[in-house]
Amino acid sequence: MAGLRNVPELVVITGAGAGIGRATAVAFAELGSRVVCADIDLAAAGETAALVGGVARQLDVADADAWEHFGAWVRAECGVPDVVVNNAGIGMGGPFLEHTAQDWRRIVDVNLLGVVHGCRVFGRQLAERNRDPASARRGHLVNLASAAAFTPSRGLPAYVATKAAVLMLSEALRAEMAEHDVGVSAICPGFIATDIYSATTWVGEAGAAALHRGAALTGLFGRFAPGPDLVARRIVLAVRWDVPVLPVTVGAWLAYGTYHLTTPLMRLAARVGDEQTMRWLDGLARRLGDPPANAAVRVVSEKTRQNGVTHAQVVAR
Ligand SMILES: NC(=O)c1ccc[n+]([C@@H]2O[C@H](COP(=O)([O-])OP(=O)(O)OC[C@H]3O[C@@H](n4cnc5c(N)ncnc54)[C@H](O)[C@@H]3O)[C@@H](O)[C@H]2O)c1
Repeated sequence: MAGLRNVPELVVITGAGAGIGRATAVAFAELGSRVVCADIDLAAAGETAALVGGVARQLDVADADAWEHFGAWVRAECGVPDVVVNNAGIGMGGPFLEHTAQDWRRIVDVNLLGVVHGCRVFGRQLAERNRDPASARRGHLVNLASAAAFTPSRGLPAYVATKAAVLMLSEALRAEMAEHDVGVSAICPGFIATDIYSATTWVGEAGAAALHRGAALTGLFGRFAPGPDLVARRIVLAVRWDVPVLPVTVGAWLAYGTYHLTTPLMRLAARVGDEQTMRWLDGLARRLGDPPANAAVRVVSEKTRQNGVTHAQVVAR
């Protein structure tokens, strides 16, 4: 494992105005990193920046154009970052049948595409810097998934779906970014005492009931769940040791159990598709010669020619 053993010089964090994002800004600042605090709520980002001596920028992670401007601004004003923490996320609960198309649009835009854009914009910067022989700095992308990524829940169908997608995106991206010497980690916290529960949208519920449910959960987890500084420490650890997937809290580790047993094999399989492996597969296929099923393939090709339909269509019938 590679990992960033040196203190990262520059760290970018989304959703840095509260909760896990703010705690992560504090953790990296304590190490000596300079932190760019981005949040949809500029005032909240400003408070975190003041706390850590960093800079604040407004960013709605769901806005692809805003990401391009933000990435260009960071590069021009602060340089290429060493660590990017795609932390911003929202909660959404309630029965699947009550979710509207707009509900899905919003949570996918923030929780999944918000992470995709961050990895796209900064992943390119990190890969490009890695090609520069004069630069010895490595990069690391950290994506906030959740224990929800491997814990199905009828109460949070949209939330768990987006978090599972973030986890799998991180695994796939890790396989690709390895050739650019860029690490990718997915962090999977269980219940953490933050404001996310009071800010969660409860679909299909009238305002007062939704508020009550959010407040009750905030009270409960505020009493029993660990604070966001635990996740922040784990994020620092994941960057230092290049950890692929890191559950946080005992409950998250328990949920991760069975999944964890088979993940290393799946991670190897994720690498299939690169040039080298495809060339190796090609060579293997040539050495093995024509497959016995070749006749069937020829029949399909013949039909394709006769009917003028595509191979995919023929196979699908
Ligand atoms: N708290 C938990 O129990 C828990 C558990 C697992 C995963 N997570 C994940 O950790 C991340 C942080 O959660 P938290 O508990 O600190 O939440 P939080 O609600 O305390 O803080 C979220 C921050 O993100 C900002 N934000 C929201 N939408 C945004 C947008 N579109 N663009 C930019 N900023 C935006 C908010 O303004 C806020 O400052 C989320 O991705 C969440 O899903 C949290």
